[in-house]
Amino acid sequence: MAEMPQETATGESAPPPPIADVVGMAVSGAGPAVEAVRLHGEVPIRGGARVPLSPISEGRFGRMFRRLPSMPPLDDGALQALAEQMREPGQPGGWEGTVQNFDNETIPAGYTYLGQFIDHDITFDPTSSLQRRNDPDALHDFRTPRFDLDSLYGSGPIDEPFQYRRGRNGLAMLIEPNINGVEDLPRNSEGVALIGDPRNDENTIVGQLQLVFLALHDKLAAEVEVDASVPADQRFAEAERRLRWHYQWAVVHDYLPKVIGTEMFNRLYNADKKTGLPDVDLRYYRVKNNPYMPVEFSVAAFRFGHSQIRGIYNLSQAVRDRPIFTSGPLADQFADLRGFRPLPPGWTVDWSMFFPIGGSKPQPSRMIDAKLVPALFDLPDGGGSLAFRNLKRAQALGLPSGQDVAKLLQLPLLTSAELAGAPEPTPLWFYILKESEVRVEGGRHLGPVGGRIVGEVLLGLLRGDPQSWFSADPAWTPTISDADGDGVVGVPDLIQFALS
Ligand code: HEM
Repeated sequence: MAEMPQETATGESAPPPPIADVVGMAVSGAGPAVEAVRLHGEVPIRGGARVPLSPISEGRFGRMFRRLPSMPPLDDGALQALAEQMREPGQPGGWEGTVQNFDNETIPAGYTYLGQFIDHDITFDPTSSLQRRNDPDALHDFRTPRFDLDSLYGSGPIDEPFQYRRGRNGLAMLIEPNINGVEDLPRNSEGVALIGDPRNDENTIVGQLQLVFLALHDKLAAEVEVDASVPADQRFAEAERRLRWHYQWAVVHDYLPKVIGTEMFNRLYNADKKTGLPDVDLRYYRVKNNPYMPVEFSVAAFRFGHSQIRGIYNLSQAVRDRPIFTSGPLADQFADLRGFRPLPPGWTVDWSMFFPIGGSKPQPSRMIDAKLVPALFDLPDGGGSLAFRNLKRAQALGLPSGQDVAKLLQLPLLTSAELAGAPEPTPLWFYILKESEVRVEGGRHLGPVGGRIVGEVLLGLLRGDPQSWFSADPAWTPTISDADGDGVVGVPDLIQFALS
């Protein structure tokens, strides 16, 4: 095993160079709002660019496998070559790989963007700019990652009143038709969304999903308004709690088994034999005080979602085959699904095309495999190759190799033939995607390394949050009904309730 990088006298590793420099991102700053696109990881998250290697340090970010060494670095040429190997084969200039079918019929396309929504929720940094300046590495002053929908509520109606409409008794979310006459996220005159986390306007699909959650809040708020047991001054907080718990429930019971597979899910989450209450069995995501965000999760495992992204989507029966991104500036407002602009006329998403609703057959996501659609190799506004950025970011943060993690988990290693020419040792993100591709029928869900990291962290965050349904009231069950009768109150049921 390679040596751990040198630590300083304080027990922290020497700081790596700023990530924007390492990745060589071309970030356009000026320009009209429509073009000032900020992809969701473009502004590095506070504390995420410098994560101590010390096994005793605690901060907002940390390491799950603290004793594993960093993978020996690859030069940029090797990283570029590996990234290029991940380009899904397709027709030149085509948006979708067409040579082979990479569709994953077991996970509908909507779950990809639910994953992006979850990522934003747990990585959002609602601290003040002064706190950020005083504590740039988020070692002392930070909010622990939680499924608390702060990406929806921001700092709340007192600090961010512009997000809210003053309803009859409580506060409702501001949902209005935009300049194109379609219901959209609230926006200022520049077209900038007035929402808790601006990243949830990054593309049309995640933006519309944010809108569904705003509508869900209002539906639950209407129920609370007529509930005499809730004091008037607690109505908003009660609607917020009901929404958070339903969302957490759907993440655990609907999203998680789909992406990590039911076998891994049942290993990690079960009913306690004595009490019958839900229980988790976590071996590697251990938390002493506050839950933290492990870099193995945020910089490798949870980026599996990039491989689920399709090149083109049908938004509704009428609006079909829209590319997720086109190359260069936006040709016209209908050219692609990039966000940070008012929703174009006629573009309201028909959710039955993204989730199974009312017996619909939604478009599938892509397989969780070591292939990304061509559009992700030329991100808008000079964002470059997403695959290269992920690999470079992981290296800058000193992530362990896939093989070292698999050995620690006592799993059989992928063979050189399975790794198909990738460097060995292999970057963790690539290893996880390849594992899913070769061990789970082309990538129907994550394999044992990826599934264990994603499952343990999401369940660990839920358990570590004293305000989650799991910690505060483990006997709680949803009040929104299982409209599709599949035995799980999941996202399709929440959407149906929101839009009813
Ligand atoms: C069209 C959709 C998406 C785009 C364009 C996109 C793009 C990006 C970019 C540019 C980064 C920063 C890369 C860097 O380190 O330099 C990033 C980070 C990340 N992405 Fe995505 N992504 C998308 C969807 C998703 C999905 C579906 C998931 C998970 C299910 C996901 C998970 C993550 C995570 C965990 C990070 C690191 C933490 C963060 O910055 O939020 N992304 N993504």
